[in-house]
Amino acid sequence: MPDPRKIIIDTDPGQDDAVAILVALASPELDVLGITAVAGNVPLELTQLNARKICELAGRPDTKVFAGAAQPINRKLVTAEHVHGRTGLDGPTLPPPQMLVQSKHAVDFIVETIMASDPGEITICALGPLTNIALALQKEPQIAKRITEIVLMGGGFFEGGNVTPAAEFNIYVDPQAAAIVFNSGIKLTVMPLDVTHKALTTRTRVEAFRATGNRAGEVTAELLDFFERYDETKYGTDGGPLHDPNVIVWLLEPNIYAGRQINVEIETSSELTMGMTVADWWRVSDRPANCFFVRDLDDERFFQILTERIKRL
Ligand code: RIB
Ligand code: CA
Repeated sequence: MPDPRKIIIDTDPGQDDAVAILVALASPELDVLGITAVAGNVPLELTQLNARKICELAGRPDTKVFAGAAQPINRKLVTAEHVHGRTGLDGPTLPPPQMLVQSKHAVDFIVETIMASDPGEITICALGPLTNIALALQKEPQIAKRITEIVLMGGGFFEGGNVTPAAEFNIYVDPQAAAIVFNSGIKLTVMPLDVTHKALTTRTRVEAFRATGNRAGEVTAELLDFFERYDETKYGTDGGPLHDPNVIVWLLEPNIYAGRQINVEIETSSELTMGMTVADWWRVSDRPANCFFVRDLDDERFFQILTERIKRL
């Protein structure tokens, strides 16, 4: 097997973030150099706590967890307790973590790790608002040339938005940060609502997690039992969209996805469309194609991978 791919996971756990982290820690193809928490679904003190709870659930208390930005770059924080619950990980009962959060700031960890690595060695997996990543780019612009790829869950075009009619939550929380990332010139792979809405946590799929026979599978089922209720009601579907694990599965089996290399710009002026990902899917503008925008997946294979990996923990 080739050397594991070095990744940094930036995250705002969040039930779907938690599943993504479990899969990453269960996959020998990936070397998780660190997990950087950002404010998003719930405030920073909870996202960094939740990241540590998930690392311990995965049997990986050795994982380094860093706390990052508590606020977006220049907007008031918007959180999503109505979706994720007050704790951000409502559903299962998870013990308080023994492992400590690192004393170094997440942005410093990102900058120092990338600057100390060989160019093209590190991939960033962004599962929440892009505040930490944007602050790292502002602190040390040199990292832009050294990052292999940023794979991010965010945005939406054909599916519209989920927090406003125009905007998806991760981009909406910090549109200025998203604009910095989308204009950075870094190789970007985007997992928008257009693909995550095709990855539904049907009852059969949730029960497959519960049947893995380990605590991680049982907790995953309990996380999804809670997480899916909001979207099932909203969309009237069997199960809700499972967003963030698509970022990790892209690294494991990219060929289950389909998309296009297109231009995406971020709305940062109009409050009506603030945080909208304006995706030039039909290439009607001459704006540069700055990201691979994913629209389809093999959802059966996606859930097979998730279940098989979580079963290993
Ligand atoms: O819009 C879905 C995204 O917002 C996911 O990353 C979810 O965890 C929330 O952060
Ligand atoms: Ca998230």
